[in-house]
Amino acid sequence: MQFFVDTANLDDIKSLQSMGLIDGVTTNPSLVLKSGKPFLKLIEDICAVVPGPVSAEVTAADTSGMLAEGRKLAGIAPNVIVKVPLTPAGLSACRQLKEENILCNVTLCFTPMQAVLAAKAGAAYISPFVGRLDDIGQDGTELLRDIRDIYDQYPDFETQILAASLRHPAHVLAAAKIGVDVATCPPDIMRKLFDHPLTEKGLAAFQADWEKTGQSI
Ligand code: G3P
Repeated sequence: MQFFVDTANLDDIKSLQSMGLIDGVTTNPSLVLKSGKPFLKLIEDICAVVPGPVSAEVTAADTSGMLAEGRKLAGIAPNVIVKVPLTPAGLSACRQLKEENILCNVTLCFTPMQAVLAAKAGAAYISPFVGRLDDIGQDGTELLRDIRDIYDQYPDFETQILAASLRHPAHVLAAAKIGVDVATCPPDIMRKLFDHPLTEKGLAAFQADWEKTGQSI
């Protein structure tokens, strides 16, 4: 299982990268807005820090616009993955970019059959949005399970499942148990994966007892 970090915050990316925790990065226009940085330079900077896949999203709504933007984004660094929406225009762009050896992450996936369409369009990654389905009262992890089951029946599908919109550690656990290829987590969720009160309590007790030994290593 791979971990990507879902952020456009370079400081968070650097800090998690230094712990060896992340295999890649996903961004989207909302995260770019939050970063307050110019998009193209930001992607260049992220790619300089993280050698793994870095998703950068197109903003055009039509195929030709997506192709132009996708080629430009892919030209920034060899590890850029072009993120396209799960629309007819997005899947056409995905197919065309694949023929040009540019990999795509198809985003905004909310049904198993959308994931099948993305696989048929040659997507390198499909991004099912777990938390946003939970937001409307559906079971987001069920979507991951369905896509895993379907993809496993068709070995010719090369698309990797990239679980997105993960909002808490239980989502990440569910994604891991289902066997997704990648979980993309916001930095705070990734940090929460470390936490357990017994870890903190146990460490405090060990430190206190060590002090009492009067020794040093
Ligand atoms: O990168 C897409 C994604 O993970 C969105 O998450 O929390 O905005 O639904 P969220």
